[in-house]
Amino acid sequence: MGFSKNIIITGGAGFIGSHVVRLFVNAYPEYRIINLDKLTYAGNLANLKDIEDKPNYTFVKADIVDASQMKEIFDAYKVTDVLHLAAESHVDRSITNPMEFVMTNVVGTVNLLNSARDYWKGSYDKHRFYHISTDEVFGSLHNPEDFFLETTPYDPQSPYSASKAASDHFVRAYHNTYGLQVVLSNCSNNYGPNHFPEKLIPLMINNIQTGKPLPVYGKGENVRDWLYVVDHARAIDLIFHKGKTGDCYNVGGFNEWKNLDLVYLLCDIMDQKLGKEQGTSRKLITYVTDRPGHDLRYAIDANKIMNELGWKPSVTFEQGLAKTVDWYLSNSEWLQNVTSGEYQKYYSKQYN
Ligand code: NAD
Ligand code: DAU
Repeated sequence: MGFSKNIIITGGAGFIGSHVVRLFVNAYPEYRIINLDKLTYAGNLANLKDIEDKPNYTFVKADIVDASQMKEIFDAYKVTDVLHLAAESHVDRSITNPMEFVMTNVVGTVNLLNSARDYWKGSYDKHRFYHISTDEVFGSLHNPEDFFLETTPYDPQSPYSASKAASDHFVRAYHNTYGLQVVLSNCSNNYGPNHFPEKLIPLMINNIQTGKPLPVYGKGENVRDWLYVVDHARAIDLIFHKGKTGDCYNVGGFNEWKNLDLVYLLCDIMDQKLGKEQGTSRKLITYVTDRPGHDLRYAIDANKIMNELGWKPSVTFEQGLAKTVDWYLSNSEWLQNVTSGEYQKYYSKQYN
């Protein structure tokens, strides 16, 4: 079967990547989707069980840090486009092990850029390199009136955001220097099914369910801007197909929450769903030492993607959070396999 595009999606076994892979595999049977993932602790092929047998889907276990492996993959699959999501993504881990973030997020991205530059040489106008980034590159907002715009200067504050900022700069440099046709997006905090339970929302859902303490960093006053992961995947689809080459797009749902208020809300939803007396789960809240250098507030101005590409979120926060909590409650096996480490044993047997 001939495909019109052979698209690599890096990090396709992770949280956001798996939603992007599913959307592309289902919506574009004419594209071959190659999910390129190293299967780190964050990669879980169980996220893609429903589409793994589709004729336009292929999984390749590979490390973007390995330059020769990347070259082989571009040759073998005649890659036409890249959607780059693979990254080390957890801020707390970047504080304990920054070098892993430099390797994957910076060196890995440059390896991919080199492979694309060399393989597409002479026909850059026919190919697209789409780099998926984060709002954390803009740093922390302190004035309540301010929002992150596409033009906001970069001011990363954690090893994670510094590594993502560096990768964004390399992507722009390859456009400017070699003419690679790139596009970028910077999104706010995602939530939804398949979110790894080290991140705030799934961690709280899991701990409420198992009656463990709910660790709130500092006083819980930091603010995050939450977007349902499927709406991020829809934005990625639009930007890949219609975004202007060389441009970047901020993606967010105008949905700011103070951490403590969000944890209260989750406690109340979970009490209701689990048939517990209201207030039961709030008693599990435990204030713990703050994250070093903890960014105070993120808030995206998403007007550019809304006005230029016609994107808007498909669900309200209330709907998205209800879908998310329901998903975790009815997928306790997924959660158990992840928290016990079982998921890694199963797939490492298949792919090592
Ligand atoms: P994740 O940690 O859930 O998944 C990352 C995936 O990348 C995993 O499947 C992992 O196995 C893979 N990976 C890691 N190192 C690799 C390597 N060296 N080679 C190949 N694969 C490797 O991350 P996520 O939350 O889904 O984030 C995906 C992307 O979106 C990241 O680039 C992140 O910076 C960005 N982003 C995330 C959020 C968010 O709220 N989660 C928001 C904005 C942007
Ligand atoms: O803004 C986009 C970013 O959002 C992405 O680029 C990152 O990959 C993603 O991990 C996320 O980063 P955050 O640091 O904002 O997400 P996290 O879920 O780790 O934390 C959300 C907030 O909750 C943050 O203010 C820290 C706080 N927190 C987190 C955890 C894990 C707690 O209070 N307790 C916790 O146990």
